[in-house]
Amino acid sequence: MCGIVGYIGNEDARDILLKGLTNLEYRGYDSAGIALLNADGIHVFKEKGRIAVLKKTVDPAVHATLGIGHTRWATHGEPNQRNAHPHQSASGRFTLVHNGVIENYNQLKADYLADVILKSETDTEVVVQLIETFANEGLSTEAALRKTLQLLDGSYAIALLDTEDKDTLYVAKNKSPLLIGIGNGFNVVASDATAMIQQTKRYVELMDEEVVVLKKDSYTIMDLDGSTKIRQPYTVSFDAHDTEKGAYPHYMLKEIDEQPAVMRRLLQEYGGSDGTVTLDPAITRAINDADRIYIIACGTSYHAGLVGRHLLETIAGIPTEVHISSEFSYNMPLLSQKPLFIFISQSGETADSRAVLVKVKKLGYPTLTMTNVEGSTLYREADYRMLLFAGPEIAVASTKAYTAMIAVFSFMAVAAAQKKGVKPSFNLLHELSIAAQGMEQMIDEKALLKEVAREYLSITRNAFYIGRALDYYVCMEAALKLKEVSYIQAEGFAGGELKHGTIALIEDGTPVFAFATQQKVNNNIRSNVEEVAARGAHTCIISMDGVTNHADDRIVLPNVHPALAPLVCAVPLQLIAYYAALQNECDVDKPRNLAKSVTVE
Ligand code: F6R
Repeated sequence: MCGIVGYIGNEDARDILLKGLTNLEYRGYDSAGIALLNADGIHVFKEKGRIAVLKKTVDPAVHATLGIGHTRWATHGEPNQRNAHPHQSASGRFTLVHNGVIENYNQLKADYLADVILKSETDTEVVVQLIETFANEGLSTEAALRKTLQLLDGSYAIALLDTEDKDTLYVAKNKSPLLIGIGNGFNVVASDATAMIQQTKRYVELMDEEVVVLKKDSYTIMDLDGSTKIRQPYTVSFDAHDTEKGAYPHYMLKEIDEQPAVMRRLLQEYGGSDGTVTLDPAITRAINDADRIYIIACGTSYHAGLVGRHLLETIAGIPTEVHISSEFSYNMPLLSQKPLFIFISQSGETADSRAVLVKVKKLGYPTLTMTNVEGSTLYREADYRMLLFAGPEIAVASTKAYTAMIAVFSFMAVAAAQKKGVKPSFNLLHELSIAAQGMEQMIDEKALLKEVAREYLSITRNAFYIGRALDYYVCMEAALKLKEVSYIQAEGFAGGELKHGTIALIEDGTPVFAFATQQKVNNNIRSNVEEVAARGAHTCIISMDGVTNHADDRIVLPNVHPALAPLVCAVPLQLIAYYAALQNECDVDKPRNLAKSVTVE
């Protein structure tokens, strides 16, 4: 959701910025722009729509070694060329890109900018106009920027150019993500490291309410009062190759295929050589000290959390609740005496989850973030952290991060059990490697899954997924995946619940997928399938070999431990959604209206 890039160095900034913005496309956006500053002055290009459109309008004759770029996901003002970033001050001296939301922009407009005619409907323009107002009063650019930031309520990641200083890029951050990338003779700015990974693997984290004065060979970090801070760069664990599609037509397909490899990486990261799980002892202690765990997440991560709860309760015996971040934030339940909060977030930037993190930290409760992005906001701000090691996930629809979350919960649960002296009833490392093989087998079933998508989903406007126990959580994820990428209306139901109302929607030919991997509820879910089939549903049973399968089940998953069945179920549910999206000619990797990193509440 919105992305920022910036470059200062010796190379041509234009192509670097456009490539950076292209790398950020996955975050979701509806307009894009760049500004290039050279000896002739400032050159701004911005357009509604895709970066491909912007590229056509950028004048190839303009060369500069300093510039900023932006992808906008509209919040204030419709997505059009006028509201696209960069925005400029009245005289054109300052040019700025911004992510986040300035909550008091109307008040600031009234208090300071009554004489300024604003050109856009955005909250952002107020920021650049304020900077110019204070610079006109005699402040240096850095001081004018800091003074402006002190007045802002809300979130911001900012990159700023000043036509009167062609050797500096000004940067600021509060709540919205922003990194400084360090190169040899150049520096970059990026919302996340994937944007500029072609330039550098070394990044400096920025904390809230920090400003950076960036030159091509130095960076000075300071707080809003101007006191400087020293911070060393860290090196990210992936490279440019990991963010490329290679021979794949879509990132989503590539990321589905990568899942067995992610499982094996996790086995290396969290598996001990003696067959036990190795976790930071402080994390295991925090888990076992808690009288109740509260898992907080959104969307697909919430669905992984539901499976996580099952693993924590059944393996480690710890009472666990799972909550949707945006609900928990404003409707907190009565908490236990010694809670531990676990935040699950692929991006580590989700604003709804962060709002809860900030609240519970204020209440003094311990927090742990499970994320795929080292250095992300939720990663930095929690007391403890566990990485998903899934590699960059570029497709908006989460696939490999979802299965990585489930696997990490299994490590967490087993480590907590080990520490308590409780012997888990199965050998996790062994069962997880079998699950990875099972995922691989399902990945090899693309022809079957494509055919299932054709047979069940090519002419329908809706579909249902039913399951019981763990399969119910799988169904919720299956429905979300299908609707977000194919735009088919889909719902995931607990098998027994359909007859309490929703079965009224079943008519001749309605597709109903039933996940049936859990032995203890196999008969029950099959009865539910009979109920909908009797009312005309076109049913597709997905069962597990040697445990729940019947001769005529449409898809039979390889046999894995029942607690890890959601890992293997993930592959068909993802591939069915993928092929349904292709059939509907949808933009698989960038579904409409969605953003990868949801940084507004
Ligand atoms: C769906 C999807 C979203 C995210 C949700 C939370 O495929 O990706 O539902 O799971 O927006 O995002 P994170 O995990 O980054 O907090």
